[in-house]
Formats: sequence, C-alpha cells, structure tokens
Amino acid sequence: MRQGKFIALEGGEGTGKSTQCRMLAKALDTRGIATQITREPGGTPGAEAIRTMLLDPPGEGWGAEAEALLFAAARSDHVTTRIEPSLEAGRWVICDRFVDSSRAYQGGAGGLGDETITALHQIGSRGLRPDCTILIDVPAEVTATRLAKRDAGNSDAIGGRGTEYHAAVRQTFLELAERDPGGFVVIDGEAGPDEVHSRIMAALEPLLAAA
Ligand code: TYD
Repeated sequence: MRQGKFIALEGGEGTGKSTQCRMLAKALDTRGIATQITREPGGTPGAEAIRTMLLDPPGEGWGAEAEALLFAAARSDHVTTRIEPSLEAGRWVICDRFVDSSRAYQGGAGGLGDETITALHQIGSRGLRPDCTILIDVPAEVTATRLAKRDAGNSDAIGGRGTEYHAAVRQTFLELAERDPGGFVVIDGEAGPDEVHSRIMAALEPLLAAA
C-alpha cells in the first residue's frame, strides 16, 4: 500500500526541474519527511543504461515507437524496483520527469498520441500516477537563452530536436494540465529559483497538511 507521496516535476528543457527537485527534497527533509529523489529516464542501474541508449543512441537512432517503448521499459523497472518500494516504506518520492514527459514528447510532439503512451504505461507500470505533477512552464525564448548557456551546443538526441518539436512538447504539457486540474499544478517558472520554490511549496500545502 502506498504510504508516501509521489511528486513528479515536469516541463520542457531548461525549465529548472532538477534544481527544484533538490530544493523540494531539502525543504521536505527540514520538515522531517523522508524523501527519495530520482529521475527519468533513469533511477535504477537498468533504467540508467536505457537512458544512455536513448540520449546517445547508436547508429541512426530510434524510430518513434522504439523510443516510446524504451522509455516505458526504463520506467517499468524504475517503478517496480525503486518508486513503489520507496512509497511503501513511507518515503516521499520526488521524480525529475515521469510518464507525462512521455505523453508530451513521444505522444504529443512525437505524434504517437496519448492513448498509445497511456497503454504502454498501463502495461509497463500498472498506470501508476503521481499524487501531484508539478508542471514548470517557461516560455520558449527564456529556455533558449538558458539552454545556450547550459548545453553550449552539446545537447542530447532529444534536447537537440528543433524548436517546433519543443513548442509541441510545451503545448502538450499545458493541454494535459488543463484536462486534469486535480492532478497537475502549473507553476510559472520564469522567476528565480527561490521564488519558484516558494510557489511549489504553496501548491503542495494541501498534500503536506494531510501528511
Ligand atoms: P533530462 O535529463 O531531464 O533533460 P533536461 O534536463 O534537459 O530537462 O531528460 C532527458 C531527455 O529525455 C529530455 O530531452 C526529455 C526526454 N524525455 C522524453 O522524451 N520522454 C520521457 O518519457 C522522459 C522521461 C524524458
């Protein structure tokens, strides 16, 4: 039975998710809540190996379906061997990306559609959903500047896709959030890290109050 809470941070490239995951884990720690911080693709040795194959693909790279299956396979291992056991042990799991990334990237921008991604997630991970998905939304112009600094032309196979692809990712994330207001919180990520962190903590107050 799930006792801990499961929080996923989502958003496009360079929206500050990783920084916010660390800040959130620290804040929860201060409140005496045991946390487990993890990421996708990755989080287990097997899923980290799949991450390398996805972000630095061999040969010509993967087709859309193979890519989606690899993300689902990595997630299946991560859910079964790390996320669910942590939740059962009462820890709060903070995950840097989860299934909504597959819905936005492979389903929306990649054209496979939401039904396909949801079906793969059902098969791979029994449809596990976060208690709350925090979508950090930042306009494309702002992330472009941040990424130019961060990646300096060395982006990975997915991050390096064109501006149209990333615009479709952002659009899909926003649509997913609009369709499920109970499951998502959209945070404006244009402000500095401290301000974004405060907004995230405010959004999580109902979950924290119930913990
Ligand atoms: P990440 O390292 O979190 O990228 P960033 O720090 O730039 O946000 O994620 C790696 C890449 O994998 C990123 O381009 C998004 C992509 N991705 C998918 O396409 N589908 C998925 O299901 C996940 C989890 C990530």
